[in-house]
Amino acid sequence: MEKAKYIWMDGELTPWDEAKVHLLTHTLHYGNGAIEGTKAYKTEDGRCAIFKLNEHTQRLLNSSKMTLLNVPFTLEELNRAQVELLQKNELFEGAYIRPLVYLGYGVMGLYHKDAPVHVGIASWKWGAYLGEEGLKRGIRLKIASMSRTPNTSGMGKAKAVANYLNSQMAKYEAVEAGYDEALLLDDQGYVAEASGACFFMVRNGQLISPPNDNSLESITQATVIDLAKDLGLEVVRRRITREEIYIADEAFLTGTAAEVTPIREVDARIIGKGGRGEITQRLQEAYFDTVSGKNEKYIKHLTYIN
Ligand SMILES: Cc1ncc(COP(=O)(O)O)c(C=O)c1O
Repeated sequence: MEKAKYIWMDGELTPWDEAKVHLLTHTLHYGNGAIEGTKAYKTEDGRCAIFKLNEHTQRLLNSSKMTLLNVPFTLEELNRAQVELLQKNELFEGAYIRPLVYLGYGVMGLYHKDAPVHVGIASWKWGAYLGEEGLKRGIRLKIASMSRTPNTSGMGKAKAVANYLNSQMAKYEAVEAGYDEALLLDDQGYVAEASGACFFMVRNGQLISPPNDNSLESITQATVIDLAKDLGLEVVRRRITREEIYIADEAFLTGTAAEVTPIREVDARIIGKGGRGEITQRLQEAYFDTVSGKNEKYIKHLTYIN
């Protein structure tokens, strides 16, 4: 990881190496915290802008509300903090932004009502999450042996720290088995989401993505659906079973970090022609045009930092 100069901690720009917490930080022990993953891109006019900043900060506040964390900052304050952090870190070539709402030191035991709520925001340079090669040639996906935590026992719509144990177990299993990423099914056997991204497939010219019944409400998924409609594609939200994926014409993942990553293989089955499909490529190009300010219609989603 490439260090930046500062990390924003509860309103203060703290030097990177001094951004530390106590061992008895509540979230470290019991996992109640909320995160975001937001990205800034260099734009075509040479400036830099955060994509869908407001949507990401709103989701951070929503996740916190779901998991009973009272965030001591407003949406506007957190938006301003992220802009200022990128400016002070001079990250004008683009950056990944990681806000974290966490419970601090002072209270032990599960009942967290009196534990102090803190917010930290880090930002740094981070390249393609699933690799540059993955963006071009596609990745290999393994369906995880563990199902996604069901709605009856989790806060699935929250981008909650605790939810990432499920994702982490699936990811580790997939990578150790020689794959790039894991796809989790829900407890009924329908596609939920990947360990850190959403799933799309193309069959007979239709673009299909599961409803968010058992996944994060993904900001990139919504963007890609808008772009697909602009391209005149038919978009369907319905449940998908694993065997249908194996015979898809194309498949890809979407996420702030994953962007639009083609899938070339799932569980030893080659998907389509085994590379980046034609529709996937069009949507990938449309996505990169959008985040870099080349698509007039969506400039409204860019917050310029310089
Ligand atoms: C579990 C999970 N699902 C989906 C996504 C995609 O969400 P978004 O497009 O809002 O980044 C992410 C990434 O944040 C994720 O971690």
